[in-house]
Amino acid sequence: MATKTKRKQPVRGLEGVVAAETSLSYVDGQNGKLYYRGYDIDQLAGKVCYEEVVYLLWFGELPNAETLDDWRSQIVSEMRLPSQVLELLRLSPPGANPMVVLRTAVSSLGLYDADGGKNTAVANQRKSRRILAQVATIVAALHRIHQGEPVMSPDKSLGFAANFLYMFTGIVPPKLDQSIFDTLLVLHADHDLAASTFAARATVSTLAGMHSAMASALASLKGPLHGGANTRVMEMLEEIENPDAVDAYIDGMLASGQRIMGFGHRMYKTEDPRSRHLRRFSEKLCRRPQSRHLAEISHNIEARVLEKKGIHPNVDFYSATVQEALGIPKEYFTCIFAMARTAGWIAHMLEQFDDNRLIRPTSKYIGRFDRKLVPLAKR
Ligand code: COA
Repeated sequence: MATKTKRKQPVRGLEGVVAAETSLSYVDGQNGKLYYRGYDIDQLAGKVCYEEVVYLLWFGELPNAETLDDWRSQIVSEMRLPSQVLELLRLSPPGANPMVVLRTAVSSLGLYDADGGKNTAVANQRKSRRILAQVATIVAALHRIHQGEPVMSPDKSLGFAANFLYMFTGIVPPKLDQSIFDTLLVLHADHDLAASTFAARATVSTLAGMHSAMASALASLKGPLHGGANTRVMEMLEEIENPDAVDAYIDGMLASGQRIMGFGHRMYKTEDPRSRHLRRFSEKLCRRPQSRHLAEISHNIEARVLEKKGIHPNVDFYSATVQEALGIPKEYFTCIFAMARTAGWIAHMLEQFDDNRLIRPTSKYIGRFDRKLVPLAKR
């Protein structure tokens, strides 16, 4: 008979389990605070650009003006895609889920990367920049291809956020849109051990490379309980259509045991600080006549869910209306999240590589031990 060792009870969903040390980001769920490398997100939002945050996460300090200029051009110079990856995007079916294409394309980048099979610190630094830049190009190029429009090259005079919008839409966006989108990227850049970040760390802990870890992270982010929620939020807003219909809709969802997308969080027991900034942007952008009703519906949903369940919106709720108002189709919302979070995923991969031990938890076995084999012919 097999030996049954006593094991602790499993923690459902690993809630509260500390699985890694990090100096990258900290979520203070009781007080609704988020820190990147010791900076309160409220200090960073609207004050620093995405490239600065990437630099902060990867190197531990904010860059000075000269370093930032150089850093920005290093990233923009890596935005070119291998022609085979562009071809793969062109071959994707018109109605394909962009997150599925992004996951596949990022995985395929590893085939053409000169550092693809190397895990040295210098190779990982080169790959980090390349992956960050190429993820943005993949998302923008995929949108252009599916719109039947030519794929755009980056404009060296623009920063990362503006460049992305330019390559995605084909026009340089107004300054307000550029700066709001930039801050949206900053707000999504890292978030402790989110499911996708844990997946990325677990993958590199086996010494599989960064492209493999990116594929794991993207696969995990896609789900509606994680980054996929933002697309579902937009679907809900479209389904509700009328601000007066909100209460009945929410009550009906809750009565039938369904979850309201964009609400609730494992870590935050109060308001998610990212959602506070995004609400402000949503209100600002939704003053435009074509999206005014969305702001009203969102406001009513927030009030009803808080009243009925005491749950606050998370990062995905207002990011939906912000992205919609910026002209991004809802199918791409999760890709934008992925593009921004690539900074954090890579930072966590580098941190894991720096002090690696295989991530290999265990389970509590609740199956049988006493079964006798019945030969195939007698089953
Ligand atoms: N709508 C309705 N009820 C919700 C809810 C939501 N969005 N989020 C949590 N709850 C309720 C649960 O039903 C549960 O209530 P109960 O105790 O009465 O059964 C309670 O809150 C705790 O939920 P639980 O599933 O244990 O929380 P979790 O930490 O495992 O889940 C999420 C966190 C994010 C998966 C969850 O809040 C959710 O499904 N949200 C919607 C999807 C989403 O927006 N995801 C993006 C996250 S950034």
